Amino acid sequence: MTATARREELISIGGASEPASEPCVFVLFGASGDLARRKLLPALFQLFQRGLLPEGFTLVGASLARMDREAFRASVRQSLEQTVGELDGAAWQLFARGLEHVTMDLSRGEDYARLGERLAQLEQERGTRGNRLFYLSVAPSLFGPVVDHLGASGLARSGRGGWVRIIVEKPFGTDLDSARELNARLHRYFDESSIFRMDHYLGKEMVQNLLVLRFANGLFEPLWNRQHVDHVQITNAETLGMEGRGAYYEQSGVVRDMIQGHVFQVLSLLAMEPPADLSPESVRSAKVELLQAVRDFTPERIRTECIRGQYAPGWTSGGQVPGYRQEPGVAPDSGVETYALLTMRFNSLRWAGVPFYVRSGKRLKERVTEVVVQFKPGPFRFPGLEGLEQAAANQLVVRIQPEEGLVLRINTKVPGRGLRMREVDLSFLYAQSFGGRLPEAYEPLLLEGLLGNSTLYTRRDMVERSWELVMPVLEAWSATKAEPNYAAGTWGPAAASHLLESQGRAWNRG
Ligand code: BG6
Repeated sequence: MTATARREELISIGGASEPASEPCVFVLFGASGDLARRKLLPALFQLFQRGLLPEGFTLVGASLARMDREAFRASVRQSLEQTVGELDGAAWQLFARGLEHVTMDLSRGEDYARLGERLAQLEQERGTRGNRLFYLSVAPSLFGPVVDHLGASGLARSGRGGWVRIIVEKPFGTDLDSARELNARLHRYFDESSIFRMDHYLGKEMVQNLLVLRFANGLFEPLWNRQHVDHVQITNAETLGMEGRGAYYEQSGVVRDMIQGHVFQVLSLLAMEPPADLSPESVRSAKVELLQAVRDFTPERIRTECIRGQYAPGWTSGGQVPGYRQEPGVAPDSGVETYALLTMRFNSLRWAGVPFYVRSGKRLKERVTEVVVQFKPGPFRFPGLEGLEQAAANQLVVRIQPEEGLVLRINTKVPGRGLRMREVDLSFLYAQSFGGRLPEAYEPLLLEGLLGNSTLYTRRDMVERSWELVMPVLEAWSATKAEPNYAAGTWGPAAASHLLESQGRAWNRG
């Protein structure tokens, strides 16, 4: 074994080699939907090709579509060709053998009895030992009814001593009450250990890497606190607009759609205390404790430290684009926010006095999700080295997407006489160091779900605490409308830049 390989193994946190899960039936509710076609089926096929799905793996698509097994296989094949590209014939044949379809109306109790009969048959035929995983990739209004029907029909319990798990897609509720309600419903029939709440940001390589970056490098942890960190920026910028999802977004807005879930996941891994160990419970407890330490948003803080926006017509690299209010499915006087900046503050010894500026928006200038940890300047007072006071602040930039990697920004001497300086980047790029294809977020997530490892899934208390935190902001903002205040293709409302400037700081981008 080479030294590099040994080192890789030593720091591996999920076992160095990737195990295949136990045989099971994967029931995909909403199998003909967009998410299934674009993300879930390709991810399962990739796992299959990498030998990570067990023998006998069976996928039952459950949807309203009138399809027999052959038609379902053809439609899966078509989706895979559009996403994965040309398929390896042998791999496809093997994968297709495990594909089945059950036509059912998810709101009708009787249909679950039929599904149960079919599952019992398949379990016999394919040797899946009664292990079942239900995946809810359906309209959120159906989450509750499907859970109730699974419970009432007895499908939430395996008859053969196998395990039953349920993966629930986002959005998990639309506010604190609805999230609590959905949790209570799930808990009527499932234990917390068998409930997997999906947040696809947890499947992104760089988000998972936050654990290794922070806890396997002696360099950063001593600096990761209020003594050394000036402030932190989390930027989640999208160039896309509504893409036909206007009607959904009208009920949502960026705080519900991105910040409460995805962005808080990144925030909690970034700022939490070191967990006692890397078990799912320890990691997830550390994340919730971090959110417990977030200072509440008071009316005063919402007014002075939070900013919302909505995009007006503008220009992107693809040409001229309409404003939010002109998007299909959006009210012409809509007051929904497509941009938000929240200043997060913590009641903790580690982070007291360190602001975390968290922003997310649609139709911004660039697609980028990154974290910037800006360090405090050193005590530069050396006679003969005048000008060092102007040294740029050191920054650690964690690029989550695109171009996953890290940048450490430091000051260095410009070659030649005298001590002129300039900032330079020490960079690491995943693509350069590791080459090859980075797995799509859904691949590790589905694999961990099949293995029963919930580290990368959201626990009940985390989802409720996240909602609790944003509720005062949502309530305050619902009293008035967000107005179009930034042109599509820019970095968002000017007020967001002014807010940082007024505190002597600036965005890394924009
Ligand atoms: C989804 C949101 O959860 O995440 C979308 O509903 C958003 O509005 C998407 O575009 C962003 O995901 P990613 O992986 O492209 O950053």
